[in-house]
Amino acid sequence: MSSTRRLDIHPMRAPDRAWAAGVMAASEPWLTLGRGRADALKLLRNRRKLCFIVRSGGARAGFLVLDLNGPLGGYIQTIGVAPEMRGRGIGTAALRWAEAHIFQKHRNVLLCVSSFNRGALRLYRRAGYAVVGRLRDYVIAGHAEILLRKTLGPLSRSTTQRTRRATEKTPRQKKSL
Ligand SMILES: CC(C)(COP(=O)(O)OP(=O)(O)OC[C@H]1O[C@@H](n2cnc3c(N)ncnc32)[C@H](O)[C@@H]1OP(=O)(O)O)[C@@H](O)C(=O)NCCC(=O)NCCS
Repeated sequence: MSSTRRLDIHPMRAPDRAWAAGVMAASEPWLTLGRGRADALKLLRNRRKLCFIVRSGGARAGFLVLDLNGPLGGYIQTIGVAPEMRGRGIGTAALRWAEAHIFQKHRNVLLCVSSFNRGALRLYRRAGYAVVGRLRDYVIAGHAEILLRKTLGPLSRSTTQRTRRATEKTPRQKKSL
């Protein structure tokens, strides 16, 4: 479907789902959140989500789950990189790809990160995300989900902008005055 300089990103197939569920079930933050393999598979099989496999040099390296049906914009539900492939820029490149995909149709990208997932939070802040909320005790008690947003700007022009535009004269109108 798409290729950056280093990565190939395609819709997931069944074997990719099994692989990604294995990564999730064995890794933080899902271990602390108590989300096992069955939960991961349920998410990855949800037809309302867009699930992508990320390959590097032909090998599976990571995955993305996007939700474009939310009320506030596009939502990056999950991003994961296989433990042995982390720290090489794959997560950042996959995040950029997901943003470009979402910004084709939405003006906002939202995502959540668990309060204990400091490394991922650093990555998102570096990529230009702003903290816009904190959902206390959202997935499990004692930890929050931090809501982050990256935006292209307001959805609509303000009333003042619209009025100003409507009263602006076109060159033809100006001439005929
Ligand atoms: C977060 C994650 C997707 C980043 O992917 P990545 O390919 O390692 O990221 P990059 O190489 O582009 O950038 C590295 C940065 O990722 C973050 N990071 C988080 N966990 C990391 C890990 N285990 N190893 C390396 N980097 C990690 C750090 O911010 C790191 O930068 P730092 O130098 O400031 O520590 C990946 O580490 C991962 O899958 N973690 C487990 C799942 C997860 O936390 N997903 C996010 C849920 S919101």
